[in-house]
Amino acid sequence: MPALPAFDASGTPYSPEYGDVYHSADSGPGQARHVFLGGNDLPGRWAGARVFTIVETGFGLGLNFLSTWSAWREDAARPERLHFVSVEKHPFLHDDLASLHARYPGFAPLARELRAAWPLPLPGLHRLEFEDGRVTLTLALGDAAQVLRNLRLAADAFYLDGFAPARNPEMWSPAIMKSLARFARQGATLATWSTSRVVRDALAAAGFSCELRAGFARKRRMLAARYAPRWRTRHAPPAAPAWSGRRAIVIGAGLAGAAVAERLAARGWRIDLIERHSTPAAEASGLPVGVFHPLLARDESVLARLTRAGCFHALGRWRALESAGHALDWRCCGLLQLARDPREESRMARTVAELRLPAAYAAFLSRDEGSARARCAVKAGGLWFPDGGWMRPASLVAAELAAARGRTPGLALHAGAEVTRIARDGEGWRAIGPDGSVIAAAPVCVLANAHDAARLCAFGGPALRRVRGQMTVLPAGSCGDLAAVLAGAAYLAPLADGVVAGASYDFDDGEPAPRVSDHIANLERLGQLLEATPRPDAPVLGGAVGFRCVARDRLPFIGSVADLGAARSRRAALSGAQPRDLPRQPGLYAAIAYGSRGLTWCCLGAELIAAHLEGEPPPLEADLADAVDPGRFVLQLVRENRGRTPIS
Ligand SMILES: Cc1cc2nc3c(=O)[nH]c(=O)nc-3n(C[C@H](O)[C@H](O)[C@H](O)COP(=O)(O)OP(=O)(O)OC[C@H]3O[C@@H](n4cnc5c(N)ncnc54)[C@H](O)[C@@H]3O)c2cc1C
Ligand SMILES: C[S@@+](CC[C@H](N)C(=O)[O-])C[C@H]1O[C@@H](n2cnc3c(N)ncnc32)[C@H](O)[C@@H]1O
Repeated sequence: MPALPAFDASGTPYSPEYGDVYHSADSGPGQARHVFLGGNDLPGRWAGARVFTIVETGFGLGLNFLSTWSAWREDAARPERLHFVSVEKHPFLHDDLASLHARYPGFAPLARELRAAWPLPLPGLHRLEFEDGRVTLTLALGDAAQVLRNLRLAADAFYLDGFAPARNPEMWSPAIMKSLARFARQGATLATWSTSRVVRDALAAAGFSCELRAGFARKRRMLAARYAPRWRTRHAPPAAPAWSGRRAIVIGAGLAGAAVAERLAARGWRIDLIERHSTPAAEASGLPVGVFHPLLARDESVLARLTRAGCFHALGRWRALESAGHALDWRCCGLLQLARDPREESRMARTVAELRLPAAYAAFLSRDEGSARARCAVKAGGLWFPDGGWMRPASLVAAELAAARGRTPGLALHAGAEVTRIARDGEGWRAIGPDGSVIAAAPVCVLANAHDAARLCAFGGPALRRVRGQMTVLPAGSCGDLAAVLAGAAYLAPLADGVVAGASYDFDDGEPAPRVSDHIANLERLGQLLEATPRPDAPVLGGAVGFRCVARDRLPFIGSVADLGAARSRRAALSGAQPRDLPRQPGLYAAIAYGSRGLTWCCLGAELIAAHLEGEPPPLEADLADAVDPGRFVLQLVRENRGRTPIS
């Protein structure tokens, strides 16, 4: 629920709901510098760090973030990457934030950038990048009590700023402090203006040792603390991995591999990208078009949350690539997802109403409204996603590879080289070609080669399937003035030089050439979307065929690959295991099984892997990261085979 701007008698931003001000009446920026930066001994404590992570409770107007970002800019010894993770239950809407920010002219340029990236008020993590990704704000929208429990990260400093404990005790509870302690690296510091006994006791119980320091302006005291538990912690936060060098092999130059290469090159990694074809984007990612849009579910299912996170992340990355001068062939023209029958129509309308979604994200449109929006007579009402659209995947692959090449040390593409085997020795991974020669060697290897990944390592049983799909390309103008993507029983994307209808979906069908019967079936499915179905001459239709890589549970495989052999031999010990307990193959990662959503998931997947490799806060909540963990089928096998014999 967004906050509305209000002010107290002194003109300080104020929350009527909580009966408290957003910052000291003496100065918000002054309080940020003295209490939050000063109380954590910043900027001094971050000097020379590669990654420094701050976690805040209560983002509010973002003054603490803006002060920290300003201090980072001014500091010659700043960390290479500053991560600021902040939880907020009542975010301001963009325009309200603009009017509030106008009161702090010292922050004007940075505040403008913050607002340009400001997300819609939707629950979950929103990743906002500034300074070419060297300053990253991860906004966790939702109630701190729930959100913090579902984060997994390692923090160096904490800002506690959630209104006064007497007015908002939930933000200072022992449970919240325990959640924060779970993130704390040894020696992490914490600061707040509150000196309340309740807060000090909760912090002490969570392992922080507190000291009182001089407060800001009229406040006599403030609290500074250091994480120094007097007991052994059961689950320490993930340590930043130590690689013998920032070098990675990426196998496969489609959407998945190009995105990983770009995200790692942006962090100073040297990439050996290996592709069996003579050019990138030669398989599924070479299809003429892909569409993108989030999914809605009344129960906010894993899939709904993952597609939402993926879509927003992708849009942010694509716009960043364009701002850096890389051309993409895409349109964010809006997408209308049509209901298949009247029952689905009313279900869609109810979902939008119940989830109270902002219209800028999703709205229900009647058939007439949808027809007007799409400029084409459609057969049913449906969900309108203003941020949906289409993209030529190959243009994204090309842009990402160009961006990666432009970094130092950048990227080497080994085109026309097939990896037949990977092997690990003391130094890391080797990608080996058909003649036994080593194509590349590096401490880290990322499998982004779709189905073929299952030949190079085991994911626990038959994990991946190939699903043939055929698109039909119709001449431009075949669907009148169609101005938006239509989706439902089929999809229809209005490109400049044609209209693409897709796509068939056939398991275990290896036919690589387009079939007339599939074109006809594609056109028939359009009949469920459009009042007037295009009737081109089937034999002269253009088309393209590709193969989706789909996991058993339809979710992607993103992250560190489990060690099946080690899991098998430790079966008994792993009986009640969580994904994080699984033994892993050091340095081996997967970015595969993107199914029909390569565009939606490739950038988020790449960021998740890059964040893991660098010990940065991930862009996904813990339950979503677990849902896409490539070790999940190994874990299933271990659980199913407790006390029984072989696991294959
Ligand atoms: C008909 C159809 C319609 C689709 N529509 C959409 C859509 O509307 N929206 C959407 O988001 N997605 C859509 N998809 C899915 C999307 O195309 C895929 O999810 C995406 O392209 C997968 O990218 P990838 O990089 O994982 O795989 P690929 O593009 O297949 O790339 C894998 C690469 O690895 C290489 N490779 C494999 N093995 C080796 C090896 N041993 N050595 C070296 N190189 C190797 C391959 O040559 C290939 O280039 C569609 C797919 C199909 C088939
Ligand atoms: C004092 S303000 C924060 C000011 C902010 N740090 C800044 O720099 O502008 C407190 C914030 O905590 C948020 N908040 C209150 N209760 C919360 C909860 N349970 N979970 C998450 N955020 C909460 C409020 O909406 C408010 O924005």
